[in-house]
Amino acid sequence: MNMNLGLNTPSAVPKKEEDDLKIRDLYHRPLCDLRVSVIDQCNFRCSYCMPQDHCAEQYTFLKKDQWLTFPQIERLVRMFAKLGVEKVRLTGGEPLLRPGLSTLIRKLKKIPGLKDLALTTNGSLLYRDARKLRKAGLNRITVSLDTLDAEMFRQINGHRGTLERVLDGIRECEDAGYECIKINVVLQKNIGHRRILDLVRYFKGRKPILRFIEYMDVGNCNHWNPAAVVPASEIVDLINEHFPIEPVESNYYGEVASRYQFADGEGEVGFITSITQPFCRTCTRSRLSADGKMYTCLFANHGIDMRSFLDQDVSDDELLNIIQSAWQKRDDRYSELRAKPATPRKNLPKIEMFQIGG
Ligand code: GTP
Ligand code: 5AD
Ligand code: SF4
Ligand code: SF4
Repeated sequence: MNMNLGLNTPSAVPKKEEDDLKIRDLYHRPLCDLRVSVIDQCNFRCSYCMPQDHCAEQYTFLKKDQWLTFPQIERLVRMFAKLGVEKVRLTGGEPLLRPGLSTLIRKLKKIPGLKDLALTTNGSLLYRDARKLRKAGLNRITVSLDTLDAEMFRQINGHRGTLERVLDGIRECEDAGYECIKINVVLQKNIGHRRILDLVRYFKGRKPILRFIEYMDVGNCNHWNPAAVVPASEIVDLINEHFPIEPVESNYYGEVASRYQFADGEGEVGFITSITQPFCRTCTRSRLSADGKMYTCLFANHGIDMRSFLDQDVSDDELLNIIQSAWQKRDDRYSELRAKPATPRKNLPKIEMFQIGG
């Protein structure tokens, strides 16, 4: 069977009425989400993100004094919220390496209009922080975990950390009462079918929702190779053979994952198909790097230096104008263009995944 993954079309989800009040880009896409990288450093060296043999020589991590301060992050988030952003996701690098993160979460939670605060982490420090962050007001958490094989886990992440720690951290999240827990699995040729089924078996019927992500050509230092991409449709079929699944509607306009539920009612899995079925048409996400550059695409090569405006003491109205006009000029659709072989390639250096956190 070849299941159709085409759920992320604009027609699949009715548009919410309040979306009509949001600002729109050149393709009429509303600005709904903001992802904030709080640090570019990471204690892992995943092969698909910052492989240790390539990244060290090509990239210098930001110094602490280059990071946006918490008050600066808070101010920018407040501006995005004024423009209609209700969802914010904190990312890295590894965001739990940023000292005092729960203080930032507490501050962000007070911003009028912000309804949902989430975080993406590699899970290595959750055993320490999961409860503290939940208490501070974090609503949802996403943990990256590609395999349950301890040896392969270390192979993928550059021999850092331990699988047990990450699994302990996920259990801590389940106990801490997060509203939603997701597990991101990057699909690469070397993961293998058995390991995918092991992950499904392990999480099925539990709170965390697995999402399988096609390996993307994000950044420059992972030396992406199309031959390493596993089309999500292959994994849909594989899972369906062993644990029958059926497609379900997206939860909201612009959701990146195509959702499937287990036929026996034991939860759901998602598939993120940036390579085989790009979802640019409903992309509502903007991003801030740890040094305060605003990006309107994960594959961008240029960001607007918001920090320089903050340093010049510009007014809130000016900040709002800058963000609004950046969004209104936006015509990004990198993944869609990638899927069209005839598209001329510019080959400009792209922002790295660990600078804007997925
Ligand atoms: P919520 O809806 O807030 O739960 O998050 P999400 O479902 O959008 O998932 P998340 O932010 O964890 O994104 C999952 C993964 O999808 C990321 O780590 C990226 O690999 C990929 N992804 C997210 N947004 C984009 C996007 O705009 N473009 C592309 N190409 N990939 C994306
Ligand atoms: N392709 C797809 N997903 C990636 N991630 C990092 N690099 C890539 C890539 N090249 C995912 C990680 C993590 C999130 C931040 O981004 O799995 O969950
Ligand atoms: Fe891996 Fe995330 Fe760290 Fe990149 S930022 S190396 S994906 S843990
Ligand atoms: Fe959005 Fe860019 Fe991803 Fe397309 S490639 S979905 S425009 S971030």
